[in-house]
Amino acid sequence: MNNNETLLLVGHGSKLPHSKQLILDIAEKVKAKNEFENVEIGLMEFNEPTIPDALKKIIASGSKRIIVVPVFLAHGTHTTKDIPTILGLRKSETGDGHGSCSHARHGKTGLLATLKSRSGKGEHDHGHGHGHGHGHGHGHGHGHGHGHHHHHHAAEAVEIPEDVEIIYREPLGADDRIVEIVMERALKME
Ligand code: NI
Repeated sequence: MNNNETLLLVGHGSKLPHSKQLILDIAEKVKAKNEFENVEIGLMEFNEPTIPDALKKIIASGSKRIIVVPVFLAHGTHTTKDIPTILGLRKSETGDGHGSCSHARHGKTGLLATLKSRSGKGEHDHGHGHGHGHGHGHGHGHGHGHGHHHHHHAAEAVEIPEDVEIIYREPLGADDRIVEIVMERALKME
């Protein structure tokens, strides 16, 4: 185990408690594997700790290597754009948007770009970014019943020190172990 290293599990988050609880439960089970001394969670939206919250905590703890696993099944806008942007790994507007598996050492600039609305539509500009909206965002009227408005928080900028390395891994994918679970659910096996 390396105390200089932290595993950050990123979940989606929800107005209901299940999403965060799932990530907490998974984090506890991962911790029990004793492979990572430090395991933290961050939620993309609706819940705390947010990803910036988690990053700040991890950086303050002195970890120099942050391994980020998005606990999502498939790639989507969060995993290819939003999360890499928050992590300071997304460099380009071009290409297929896959920020995955980026392996970046942060330059002197440090400050991350504020996450912009991915659609550019005016209704997504809630104007409550810069770190206030997140954990308390439930009352801010974004999202409910409006399809995907919940995606359009502006991300808080986190200053990533030069000596902190962030490694961003793939989501879970169509792994055989996922298939096993799907079959188990379908067949109601114990
Ligand atoms: Ni979302």
